[in-house]
Amino acid sequence: MTDAPRPLLERYRALLARDGESFPITLGEGMTPLVHARRLGDELGLDQLHLKFEGTNPTGSFKDRGMVLAVNRAVAAGARAVVCASTGNTSASAAAYAAAAGLPCHVILPVGKVARGKLAQALAAGARLIMIDGNFDEALTAVRRLGEEGLAVVVNSVNPDRLDGQQTGAFEVVDALGRAPDALALPVGNAGNISAYWRGFTTYADAGRMSADAMPRMLGFQAEGAAPIVRGEPIEKPETVATAIRIGNPASWELAVEARDRSGGVIEAVSDDEILDAQRMIVRLEGVFCEPASAAGVAGVRRLAAEGRLDRDTVVVCVLTGHGLKDPDAVQAEEGSLTPIAPELDAIRREMDL
Ligand code: F0G
Repeated sequence: MTDAPRPLLERYRALLARDGESFPITLGEGMTPLVHARRLGDELGLDQLHLKFEGTNPTGSFKDRGMVLAVNRAVAAGARAVVCASTGNTSASAAAYAAAAGLPCHVILPVGKVARGKLAQALAAGARLIMIDGNFDEALTAVRRLGEEGLAVVVNSVNPDRLDGQQTGAFEVVDALGRAPDALALPVGNAGNISAYWRGFTTYADAGRMSADAMPRMLGFQAEGAAPIVRGEPIEKPETVATAIRIGNPASWELAVEARDRSGGVIEAVSDDEILDAQRMIVRLEGVFCEPASAAGVAGVRRLAAEGRLDRDTVVVCVLTGHGLKDPDAVQAEEGSLTPIAPELDAIRREMDL
């Protein structure tokens, strides 16, 4: 055990911890790979395209970075329970960390649109699931009220510990590259992560761990049917195949706009087809399997590069926010037959088309 990596919050303790604070709960979050995507980069016309694969976090998404801090602090504050609204990943993460802390976890979910793997994760960890006949935004409104009533600690990203912990994604990107990228692309749903990455780069520059003159441009991408920031108004009935970002009124709207504007970046919309195409390209060219929402950043970068808005030598990091295994239903089998054939070599050879 002597060479076990230090837990994430210990590693960045100087930037995150309060005096004397301890973080007993950890599941081994963070320290996710940054993959130099050479084949995908070739396809997109980018020599320096990197994928920050957050699917290797303990519950398979970036949420664990903030959840570990939020739950440690909830425990320290004497919380009796935690509660969240979720399109799926937050609930999987909250359920896991609450289980590790021995706290009850309540989850309010929008009806019908939570990916199967995420539901299974929350259920398996013993969270109490409540599905409402409404969307994520309505679930979050209810959760905020419950939090105000003091019944449970809210662990959505309206809890500042969540965004503080998620800054570690930016820290790791800089540590891995030895500098900040020129541009950082990611999906935007409730708009917490883009805000957290921007805060992370700012924190790192303030601490002298990267140059303040080399801040990255933040490139955020919403799904066309759920693009309130792009349209400039809340969307009442958001729709997208990327259910994780099916959000019509993001909680961190203003912070995201600030990140965009201060960094000279963009927040734009990509279609469901562009998202699914990008998801397929990422796994077929790089072997990295992310969920649909996670591919929105790559879909956006693909378009910007095609439009000549990103030079070939731009250092681009796309954050792949969640694991593809969470949402197996989103993968369409296009080739190969799953109808059984005779267990005979000739028949198999014919099927292989060799
Ligand atoms: N990618 C994935 C896989 C997500 O689960 C989410 C958000 C996002 C991107 C967007 O990040 O909200 O910080 O802008 N999922 C939340 C949830 C809403 O409930 O799991 P954001």
